[in-house]
Amino acid sequence: MEEGRGSSEDLLQAQKAYWDEQQPSVDGMLGGLGFVHDTDIAGSRAFLDKVMPLREGQQDRGRALDCGGGIGRVTKHLLLPAGFTSVDILDVSSDFLDKAVDYVGSDALKNRFCSGLSQFDFAGTGLKWNCVWVQWCAIYLADDAFVDFFRRAAAALADENSLVVLKENALRGDRPPEPDHDDSSVTRSDSHMRRLFERAGLRVVHAEEQKGFPAELYPVISYALVPR
Ligand SMILES: C[S@@+](CC[C@H](N)C(=O)[O-])C[C@H]1O[C@@H](n2cnc3c(N)ncnc32)[C@H](O)[C@@H]1O
Repeated sequence: MEEGRGSSEDLLQAQKAYWDEQQPSVDGMLGGLGFVHDTDIAGSRAFLDKVMPLREGQQDRGRALDCGGGIGRVTKHLLLPAGFTSVDILDVSSDFLDKAVDYVGSDALKNRFCSGLSQFDFAGTGLKWNCVWVQWCAIYLADDAFVDFFRRAAAALADENSLVVLKENALRGDRPPEPDHDDSSVTRSDSHMRRLFERAGLRVVHAEEQKGFPAELYPVISYALVPR
């Protein structure tokens, strides 16, 4: 992956072209691994309840942004059941965002932002979020774009109890990033991502590896992040 503005547009077009060929379904969102859906959602819910516990009597967690949210799998099965009463989805695919209306099937789904992650103007929406959830799409950001995206996501948090959550594939050890030329992504080690969080001015409040996924898959790590 190349850094820079022109190349980031080329990268976005390549990623969009890849995703335009994928099915607007749970299986499509999970790259043909639809069988991990239940385990993924249960793991995410346990993580969310740990890092963002509901206070006594609190039922409403506020507003969430589901980044790279596709058809709204995370919105429908995690964010809305967990108590976010307004959720916005950001994705590069207008087809997935169209599908999200019926798939999510709830008025609590508010805005559907069709944009690349790098190109998304958080501040321009005039909104703030209690949780910015970023799952299985940060692999589409080159390093500088990753740092910029997470810095801007953190600036869009509503208050000091709000979090950015990244749930992403990772490499074990401190191995060099692995590019995938099929979908124009790059998978990084946990250490590499932590160095990028540092550059973005973010602190890792808690991190945890998803349990119960097949051993042949990449480890998947969830990070709860706040501005330093
Ligand atoms: C592996 S799917 C994950 C979908 C969702 N987060 C989930 O867990 O069900 C990756 C998603 O990222 C979106 N995507 C890929 N590159 C992107 C980019 N540069 N900007 C925004 N979205 C992107 C795809 O359209 C797709 O919906």
